[in-house]
Amino acid sequence: MAIDILLGLQWGDEGKGKIVDVFANSYDIIARFQGGPNAGHTLEFEGNKHVLHTIPSGIFHPKTINLIGNGVVIDPIIFIKEIQDLEQYNIDLNKKLLISKKAHLILPTHRLLDAASEALKGKAKIGSTLKGIGPAYMDKTGRNGIRVGDILALNWENKFKNLKQKHLSILKSYNVSIDYDLKNLENNFFESIEALRKFELVDSEQYLKEEQKKGKKILAEGAQGSLLDIDFGTYPFVTSSTTTAAGACTGLGVAPSKIKKVFGIFKAYSTRVGSGPFPTELFDNDGKTLAKVGNEFGSTTGRARRCGWIDLVALKYSIEINGVTQLIMMKGDVLSGFDKIKVCTGYKSESGKMDYLPYDITSQDIRPIFYELPGWQEDLTGMTDLKDFPTNFKNYISYLEKTLKTPIKIVSVGPDRKQTIFR
Ligand code: GDP
Ligand code: IMO
Ligand code: MG
Repeated sequence: MAIDILLGLQWGDEGKGKIVDVFANSYDIIARFQGGPNAGHTLEFEGNKHVLHTIPSGIFHPKTINLIGNGVVIDPIIFIKEIQDLEQYNIDLNKKLLISKKAHLILPTHRLLDAASEALKGKAKIGSTLKGIGPAYMDKTGRNGIRVGDILALNWENKFKNLKQKHLSILKSYNVSIDYDLKNLENNFFESIEALRKFELVDSEQYLKEEQKKGKKILAEGAQGSLLDIDFGTYPFVTSSTTTAAGACTGLGVAPSKIKKVFGIFKAYSTRVGSGPFPTELFDNDGKTLAKVGNEFGSTTGRARRCGWIDLVALKYSIEINGVTQLIMMKGDVLSGFDKIKVCTGYKSESGKMDYLPYDITSQDIRPIFYELPGWQEDLTGMTDLKDFPTNFKNYISYLEKTLKTPIKIVSVGPDRKQTIFR
């Protein structure tokens, strides 16, 4: 049986949570493959609005199993808080949520290291969510990390103490002042570890293998976006995991030959939270309108998201890297009311024109080349049928499809589950 992947094609916050929730009914298992509580995936249904950070977005569907894969980094404190926030929905989490023993833990000192590293960088800071993501993945690849399965061993606290000591000596060498109450954080951490122990901790690659044999349908849920990928994103302004399709293979232990559909999700415009290059960023009233109408504030940190027109150069690149088989366009409704809508079809810099993302995008002065399309005034949020779409919105979709050479199969016109139109 094949595995499908859903991932973001821009700088995150494309609407992955909403669409995974919409899809969850048609899959047996939703499996998160990378990232950690830096993610904020928003779901809206039946008058509820819920933001998930570590828990997969299929959790609200009665039959779907949700798996946190080995590629994810888990902060037990945030995870248990998420569990408490779900109590009101009466979900049988012991049956519906599985956690890979190979997923790595974020320690309180990882968060301190994140804060110190950003403080040290000053103006050149990444704009991290400060959840300890970078330091936790550094310990994973540095072969010092603590994995979820380790907490089942009797002597695991020694491991914890050794790693903490190492972190504290690194912190000292950073020589920057950050405020923290480590004792309090640690108490909270150990309480949360006790709660985490009660969940079903599994060898998730084995589990997925067996379920595939039984013919179960699996959807791999990505976090962040392709332009934040550790290798292919706008380095160093990226996150520390593989956010692209390859990350689903390593983050879940599934073979590339098993991957079937790759759903690439994007906003009808662009946003970015944190620092780093953003060629189509707007600093004028149009940018302010996108931020206001799109309610562009980070789901995890509440920070204002930077906004700009859609970047087809970046999108083409993401589609190729991921092997996207079909596209999902979000937030088309936010573009209603503009007389003209711009799309970026190329870049220009001192060295001339280009139609790809250069290696040194972070240091070059890259300016967008725009093509203009006519806008539409109609409110799309109540529309339920493609036929009702204004002609100029239909034209916008067709133009993107043609330029990106990939079909747009779903169009989202509002945050609610129901505001989703299949083409
Ligand atoms: P994710 O991280 O990719 O899951 O996305 P986020 O949840 O961080 O951000 C997407 C935001 O847009 C959330 O507040 C969603 O509720 C909202 N949203 C999703 N789809 C649409 C849409 O089609 N229209 C509008 N207006 N909002 C949407
Ligand atoms: P979802 O899954 C948007 C950004 C941060 C920062 C950079 C590095 O909700 O789309 P990190 O905390 O990983 O050290 O931050 O990446 N970032 C995100 N931006 N959506 C996210 O997740 C993000 N996760 C990290 O703002 O610029
Ligand atoms: Mg988000």
